[in-house]
Amino acid sequence: MFMKKKLSFFLAVVLTLGFTAASTGCDGNSGSDSGSVNIGVVLPTREEPRWLQDEAKFMEVIGATDYTVEVMFSHGETATEKQNVEALLEKGIQVLIICPQTADAAGPAVEAAKAKGVTVISYDRLIMGTDAVDYYVTFDSVSVGETQGRYLADNASGSGNPLYLYAGAASDNNAFLFFEGAWSVLQPKIADGTFVIKNSSKAAALRDKAELSRDDLAEIIGQISTNWDFNTAKNLAEANMTSASAEDKKHVFVLAPNDGAARAIADVLAVNVGSFVITGQDAEKESVQYVIDGKQSMTVFKDTRTLANDAMDMAIAIIKGDSVSAPADYDNGKKSVPSKQTAVVAVDRDNVKSALIDTGYYDEADFAW
Ligand code: GAL
Repeated sequence: MFMKKKLSFFLAVVLTLGFTAASTGCDGNSGSDSGSVNIGVVLPTREEPRWLQDEAKFMEVIGATDYTVEVMFSHGETATEKQNVEALLEKGIQVLIICPQTADAAGPAVEAAKAKGVTVISYDRLIMGTDAVDYYVTFDSVSVGETQGRYLADNASGSGNPLYLYAGAASDNNAFLFFEGAWSVLQPKIADGTFVIKNSSKAAALRDKAELSRDDLAEIIGQISTNWDFNTAKNLAEANMTSASAEDKKHVFVLAPNDGAARAIADVLAVNVGSFVITGQDAEKESVQYVIDGKQSMTVFKDTRTLANDAMDMAIAIIKGDSVSAPADYDNGKKSVPSKQTAVVAVDRDNVKSALIDTGYYDEADFAW
């Protein structure tokens, strides 16, 4: 988990766009007066490029709205997250859009918001174990894992291919959904011997079980969690390579849950194995360059423009009293949360230009081709 505090840096990056929007990386100093903010956005950390993409997209959407919006970051800390929510409540927000740092620790923050009559939208990560979540705006996270699993399966032939599995943080419900999706595609290929799991005794023991329970998933994730942390991923991969036989280092397959983990693991594999196929997620710029350079096989593109737009459209509809479109359902352990879901796209070297440059998501000049 990213625990570092860089308050002085964050104080220096306070951003204000015109009179309608502010993005703060600190504990609420946006310059807004009490009662002046309509929509509060709380994101988990600036330490991962994924969330900076979301911030940038929110700032674009915000620039085009008449509503006042403030974006705050929690620095990977639930306590800061709660302080951010309290600061936004002081400013009179009507809607809170929040991506929790820890799924089942964000309850008190959103319950405080509900107590003030604020509508709560869980953003990207579902807040678990509380009925104080009104809506969920998300990518289709099960399909993220399916997409990763399919990429590995499509690129494997023969049998006995070494498979290394890595997962996200157990504190993030998405880590479960990603692994569940990947397992649904990989499990038949593990059961038929195409792949042999090399680094999780729990997953290997469940090789014949098509549908894993939450407890099964928790046990597996407990063995292979990167905690969404670059160094944890690197250390896990190094330990796995230390215990791998020469045979298991020839051509290997790697389920990496996101781009940060993928780059950390790929850097370890590059000096340890003959060749490898590795997944990713988020289309972070650094990983897009890795894909172009052949250092990471693929990434899953989650178009944060759509997610930020959906969340803002929903928030504005709520403020206006219009109807809200949330046709999907996600169970957070306390209630079934009405949800809006967005599809994802697999990106590898073949379609990196058409998916990320031609769609205007990134500039061609940002990469070395
Ligand atoms: C997940 C998110 C991913 C990834 C990860 C690490 O919740 O859906 O896109 O970035 O967290 O932050």
